Amino acid sequence: MGRHIILIGFMGAGKTTIGQVLAQRLKRPLFDTDQLIEEQAGMTVSRIFEVHGEERFRTMETETIRTMISSGEDWVLSVGGGLPLREENRTLLKQAGTVVYLRVRPETVLDRLKGDTTRPLLQGGDVREKVETLLSYRSPFYEEAAHVTIDVDGKIPEEIGDEILKRHSL
Ligand code: S3P
Repeated sequence: MGRHIILIGFMGAGKTTIGQVLAQRLKRPLFDTDQLIEEQAGMTVSRIFEVHGEERFRTMETETIRTMISSGEDWVLSVGGGLPLREENRTLLKQAGTVVYLRVRPETVLDRLKGDTTRPLLQGGDVREKVETLLSYRSPFYEEAAHVTIDVDGKIPEEIGDEILKRHSL
C-alpha cells in the first residue's frame, strides 16, 4: 500500500476541510479531484454534467486519480462523493494509500448544503429524499473502499484530524 492519504465520503462530509487540516499537519500538498477536473476541463462540475453528462464526468474522475497516483510525492487527496462507486476507483485508491471514510448523517449533510447550487445531483425536487436515498445506496461502497471510518457529526475539523492521525499513526 502507498503512503498517500485519501478522503472519501458523501457530499458535505467535510472532505475538503479535513483535507486542509491533514495537509497542514503533515506538511503535504492537498489535491481535490473536483478541482483538478475543473482545471483540466476549464469548466465547473455542474457545467460538465450539463454539457457532457455524468458518465463522462465519472470517466474524468478515474483518469484524474490514475494521473495522481503516478506522481511521486506524498499527498492528501479529497475525492468527489461519487468516485468510490466505481470498483476500479476503489481498487486504485486502496493501493495508493490509506483511505479514510468520513461518515456523515443525512441531517448534517442537509444542514451544511442548504442553498448549495454547485452539486448537480442535489438540485431540484425533494433534497432530503435525494440525500437519504443516495447516502443509503452509497454507504456500502464507502465502507468497502475504506481502511478507516470516522464519524464526523458534531465534531470540529481539528478533532477529526486528531482522530485520523492518532488512530492510524499516519
Ligand atoms: C458528487 C459529489 C461532488 C462532485 C459532483 C458529484 C457525487 O463532490 O464530484 O457534484 O456524486 O456525490 P463533493 O463530494 O466534493 O461534493
